[in-house]
Amino acid sequence: MVNKNIHLVFFSPTGTTARVTGAVAKGTGGTVCRTLDLTPGAPEAKIGFAAEDVVIVAAPVYGGRLPTLAVERLKAISGQETSVIPIVVYGNRAFEDALLELSDLCEAQGFHTIAAGAFIAQHSFSSAALPIAVSRPDGKDLQRANQFGGQIAQILRANESSTQLEVLELPGNRPYKPAMGARPAATEVDLRLCTHCGKCVSLCPANAIRMTDVGPVTESCLWCLACLHNCPVAARTVVLPKVIEVAQRLHDTCQTRREPETFPAQPVDCSLRKVVGCHL
Ligand SMILES: Cc1cc2nc3c(=O)[nH]c(=O)nc-3n(C[C@H](O)[C@H](O)[C@H](O)COP(=O)(O)O)c2cc1C
Repeated sequence: MVNKNIHLVFFSPTGTTARVTGAVAKGTGGTVCRTLDLTPGAPEAKIGFAAEDVVIVAAPVYGGRLPTLAVERLKAISGQETSVIPIVVYGNRAFEDALLELSDLCEAQGFHTIAAGAFIAQHSFSSAALPIAVSRPDGKDLQRANQFGGQIAQILRANESSTQLEVLELPGNRPYKPAMGARPAATEVDLRLCTHCGKCVSLCPANAIRMTDVGPVTESCLWCLACLHNCPVAARTVVLPKVIEVAQRLHDTCQTRREPETFPAQPVDCSLRKVVGCHL
């Protein structure tokens, strides 16, 4: 349990990042006083967090990086040496540079990373025919997320008693691998099935689908497949050969279960610091 106000900021087209973030927050025992979902769009005004706030910032991994739209929207938040916990959620392949990128982004905007985590979820490209990490995060993942929340609470308590924390070394490379660029539309709608309920229009994070369109406006599709996964009448299908090919490859090569990885900052050993002549 921690006596701090916890803020959640995430981008989560198909909802798994949001679920993991919630489980981590619950594990801290703190009060969640603000949830900022950047999936539908950036906030109208910039949001500044205070030094005493604690912010969990989370995004999915796209091609080993953060989705470019998430990066754009995350630029709306800033801190004042505010404690932040960057979290990435990925589809059982790899998170590569994404966690480092998220931590770097937060640090550049006035936050200080006190812990970070990479969790696994069902891959957005998973289907009944080509399952990839189906039903994750599962109970074990969410329990792990909860435990990570407990570790965060411990770090925050140590911080309150002025314990210095190490600077975290996160996995990943700088410069990061190239980000995924603009993409043609991944899905098409079957107009014989479509009831024009508008769910895909409202859920598309890129605002790339219009009620009048047969498919998303090609140049801004994220390939997130929120439109397909949330269609109440299953009117959407993946039509883009590249996405079908990647789904097949991931299905063939990413079946070995990967486990969450967490990176809590450890307290600096003061006795050792004295030996090497460093003054806190
Ligand atoms: C365009 C795209 C690229 C992705 N790239 C990766 C990747 O590099 N590694 C990986 O393991 N999962 C990858 N995924 C899977 C997502 O990270 C995963 O499904 C995540 O849970 C989605 O988060 P959300 O449910 O919050 O939208 C990708 C998904 C999409 C749509």
